[in-house]
Amino acid sequence: MTSSLLKVLSGERLDIPPIWMMRQAGRHLPEYLEVRATAKNFIDFCFSPDKAAEVTLQPIRRYDMDAAILFADILLIPIGLGRDVWFVKGKGPQLNPITVSDIAKLTIEGAAERVSPVYETVSKVRAKLDPSKALIGFCGGPWTVATYMIEGQGSPKKEIAKRFAYENPEAMDDLLQALAISSADYLIHQANAGADVLKIFESWAEGLSPDLFERLVIKPTRQIIDLVRDAGITKPIIGFPRGGGLKAVIYAQNTGITAIAAGTDMPMDSFRKLLPKDMPYQGNLDPLALRIGGDVLRQAVQTVLETSTGPHIFNLGHGVTPDVKIENVHAVINHIRTGDGDYV
Ligand code: CP3
Repeated sequence: MTSSLLKVLSGERLDIPPIWMMRQAGRHLPEYLEVRATAKNFIDFCFSPDKAAEVTLQPIRRYDMDAAILFADILLIPIGLGRDVWFVKGKGPQLNPITVSDIAKLTIEGAAERVSPVYETVSKVRAKLDPSKALIGFCGGPWTVATYMIEGQGSPKKEIAKRFAYENPEAMDDLLQALAISSADYLIHQANAGADVLKIFESWAEGLSPDLFERLVIKPTRQIIDLVRDAGITKPIIGFPRGGGLKAVIYAQNTGITAIAAGTDMPMDSFRKLLPKDMPYQGNLDPLALRIGGDVLRQAVQTVLETSTGPHIFNLGHGVTPDVKIENVHAVINHIRTGDGDYV
């Protein structure tokens, strides 16, 4: 049976859109926390195929989502490139900020092979997943991963990384190139291990000038997609230039992606008119409405359903947070599939 997600990604519109949620496997689920507690740390967890496969499957079992997303992280590729990454509770990811001279030492050769437990997770999940459900593999957008490598942690404005791009253009291009090549290899391995769909998370596409967006986002993304296609992989690729605004349209036109994911700020009706004809798009329920629940959430779901036209995949504009109530995730899914849900 062809999965509903693959149907929409091939350009079909379905009366009931397929649904999955970014960060659907995560801390809002007690069964996730149980497995999480058995892992030494987050990176070790990502590199434990049995555990990672189990938590990838949990939201499918509990919610009957239409797709599973591989449990891994966009910051595994820097590890493959020879950098240290660790997670501090309450602070998120931490890295040693990369310098111009470090960039020349990145180990591009073999980077994707050094994170090979991830591909084992993919094949374990695909073996257990019902054929009607699609498995999504992913990588980070080179710019987004580069911001963590340059800044050493998440920061709201990315000013340090942008400054680095202006002041060290050659080193920046080398870094993006290293990330594009290794990320393409990473996606190729995931596709070969059984991922049905690939997604590029460009979570920090916000606030870039048009020139920087072209250089830091469009160019390396196009390079990833060209490399994946050159390897003979024809599987659909979803791009997520979160917060890119109007430049998301340029991204849709110029990177070679199959489909585009919209962040919370995107008006789905106007966006449709600007996209290449019938390009499938995904989005974009406000994660805050999901946290609040009740009528706020009911109305927000209704708005997404009413304003999204053409081939549409229902999702959030960003990820599920730990405080989300399980009842409300059920309610959203029921609303989409039956017309209303029991919101709390
Ligand atoms: O369920 C899924 O969506 C699949 C797995 C997945 C994770 N991270 C698991 C995770 C995916 C697709 C990602 C992508 C990712 N990772 C992005 C892009 C998407 C986005 O959210 O913008 C980014 C920027 C990262 C980097 C990252 N990883 C951060 C900033 C954090 C800390 C955030 C936090 O909420 O603490 C992580 C950790 C992380 N990745 C968790 C999960 C489930 C929480 C870790 C835990 O259990 O302690």
